[in-house]
Amino acid sequence: MAKITASVYTSHVPAIGAALDLKKDHEPYWQPLFKGYEKSKQWMKDNKPDVIFLVFNDHATAFDLSMIPTFAIGCADSYTPADEGYGARPVPVVKGHADLACHIAQSVIQQDFDLTIINHMDVDHGLTVPLSLMCGDVTEWPCAVIPFAVNVVQYPVPSGQRCFNLGKAIRKAIESYDGLNADGKPLNVQIWGTGGMSHQLQGARAGLINLDWDKQFIERMVNDPADLATMPHMDYVREAGSEGIELVMWLIARGAMADVAGGAKPSEVHRFHHVPASNTSVGHLILENN
Ligand code: DHB
Ligand code: FE
Repeated sequence: MAKITASVYTSHVPAIGAALDLKKDHEPYWQPLFKGYEKSKQWMKDNKPDVIFLVFNDHATAFDLSMIPTFAIGCADSYTPADEGYGARPVPVVKGHADLACHIAQSVIQQDFDLTIINHMDVDHGLTVPLSLMCGDVTEWPCAVIPFAVNVVQYPVPSGQRCFNLGKAIRKAIESYDGLNADGKPLNVQIWGTGGMSHQLQGARAGLINLDWDKQFIERMVNDPADLATMPHMDYVREAGSEGIELVMWLIARGAMADVAGGAKPSEVHRFHHVPASNTSVGHLILENN
């Protein structure tokens, strides 16, 4: 059966993608940020999965206000990079894993979570920036990716608790998949939660950053995720700004880790935070299942 080996959490600030694409990553402003991901890129090389189940949010690139699915799973064979604002990033096309994605859709919907099925979608910085941060400048992404889109843009958004419970269902779904990789082995799957940390892009509180709250969020994500999941969405908005609500997506990845289902506690491989990138607080965490 397929195994979830690790979870990765990271912000997806579009300016990070622009800095990489415009080769500004060695500038003093960006150096401390990219330095924080050096260990992650090496870890990714040493722990290459077959598939990344990548929880992200679209920013009005694939879905505009005419259609807003709360949870949507990518069942396509590939996804083309596109973006609002900066334009499409010059990064490789994202290859999907339709067979595993369809299995997850079947299992998770039967576990009473209503997913929207995506058979065609372009992917924006929410998905490509985490891939660049973890994989570097590559001509091909190292593995398949199943995009899982969450609405955290247009209210009402899903609660942290619902995201955490959904993570548990996704874990059951992935670990009941008996398809094999190209070497005839069970699939090695990582689950990534992206977005955040504190940031607000508009209104009277534009530019809000709450580093103490962000650090506390990461700490609770590691050591007490079930309690963190009970936090009401208004707390995210008040403490982490209107776009800080993206952090509920981290709880989907955390809910899929083994300890939540009664297994061993994960090992913390890496923790990093940095302020600022653009007008956002950046947080990053890697947890490995034992
Ligand atoms: C910005 C946009 C985002 O989607 C995000 O998550 C963080 C920052 C920005 O435009 O700066
Ligand atoms: Fe975002």
